[in-house]
Amino acid sequence: MDEGGNLNSLIVASNRVPSPDQGSGSQGGLAVGVMNALSRTDGLWLGWNGNTEEAPSRDIDHYDFDGVRFATFPMSVEQHRLFYIGYSNEVLWPLFHYRPDMIEYNREKERGYLEVNQLFADNIRSVMDESSRIWVHDYQLIAVGHLLRQSGVEAPLGFFLHTPFPPWDLLRILPEYENLLHYLSAYDTIGFQTDLDLYNFRDCMKRGIGAEIEEDGTIVFDGRRSQADVYPISIDIDTAREMAEQGENSPTGQRLKRSLNNRPLMIGTDRLDYSKGLYKRFQAYERLLERFEERRGNVIYIQISPSSRTDVEEYAALRTTLERVTGHVNGRFAEYDWMPLRYLNRGYDRASIMGFLRQSRVALITPLRDGMNLVAKEFIAAQDPEDPGVLVLSHLAGASRELADGALLCNPFDIDGVAEVMERALSMPLEERRARWQSMMTVLQNNDIHQWSENFLAAMNQNAEQRREDQ
Ligand code: G6P
Repeated sequence: MDEGGNLNSLIVASNRVPSPDQGSGSQGGLAVGVMNALSRTDGLWLGWNGNTEEAPSRDIDHYDFDGVRFATFPMSVEQHRLFYIGYSNEVLWPLFHYRPDMIEYNREKERGYLEVNQLFADNIRSVMDESSRIWVHDYQLIAVGHLLRQSGVEAPLGFFLHTPFPPWDLLRILPEYENLLHYLSAYDTIGFQTDLDLYNFRDCMKRGIGAEIEEDGTIVFDGRRSQADVYPISIDIDTAREMAEQGENSPTGQRLKRSLNNRPLMIGTDRLDYSKGLYKRFQAYERLLERFEERRGNVIYIQISPSSRTDVEEYAALRTTLERVTGHVNGRFAEYDWMPLRYLNRGYDRASIMGFLRQSRVALITPLRDGMNLVAKEFIAAQDPEDPGVLVLSHLAGASRELADGALLCNPFDIDGVAEVMERALSMPLEERRARWQSMMTVLQNNDIHQWSENFLAAMNQNAEQRREDQ
């Protein structure tokens, strides 16, 4: 329990919440980080229950899962269409991932976005009390803080953006960019994944709505002061390692091992999303087999990509493209006893994935743009220190800001360059692999998931304290 002794002292709001169906301890990314913070503060996690209903609803379902209290609620079909598919995933997601060509904007979607953000704000108000601190997550919920303030809430408000934040010249493509910046100014504490996102944000606040940036970086707008900083999200190293060991020794892990037949494994595991650079990654793999003939028959690339956001057109199109390229690469290079590319359009439980990562000689993390990319960090934690694999990492992933010394960085747009880096990774001597892995492991040890949430919450507390003193 928190110092105040109040159960609701920390309220986390995010569009998705971990599903009890997935079982205890099997959550990824955001879920692990937030569950951790909540279980240490006896907090409550509030979000969408994943269901749609014909009409808008005010019902909230309360339950406990993995030692954390949850409050979840449905969306109407219309809200889901406008808020989730529409504004979140057809406007903000492509904009924040530097893909303005993929934006499908209309004003109705923005209206739906505000409506659902209002629903979140109302539901937060119904579970909070005077001791609550509220931590809002990600691009789907940017307006929640502002809507809470509008209804008189003066509690500490934090916001963490898991995606990149675009530069000014991109952000202003959004017709209501001023509103978006205005909404962000409602939070006392704002967190980004990298220094570049923070830079973009401050620049946008200044140019977009004329906010004042003080010498220490404090953002002042409309009488409110916000502290923005960098909090690179991370993972729970011990859990990841344990899962990887278990996964490797499980029947699934052993089956994979047998199927490899001593060939080195390259792996990619990403949601099926255009930001992940899968099409270019497949092309780079084809180039590897084309240019480095001795690799033919002597490497296996497994790409695990469960479908995601299937209601969004671009995602369906990407799926078709990947099926085509997989057929092309395998048709061109496969032998009767060797299939170069195993593309799996489905998900696996976390332990199996971690076991696969542990058995991989190379991880291919080559997004065209990514907030952080936790698979990069999970891959590191999953390795056997005696015989670690090599991380091939796009320099456009947030993780590259921390892991540049140990990973082999690449530019995912440069197909030849990626093919060369793949070959370098596959043929790297053990000693170099160990040294690189050790340097990346040290980075993780210095900033794991516990550190991440502690740092953010400490900043929230400090900013709240400062606000009280200023008043
Ligand atoms: C990214 C976003 C998350 C989102 C997740 C899955 O990691 O930053 O906010 O929840 O993708 O996407 P989905 O649309 O299925 O929630």
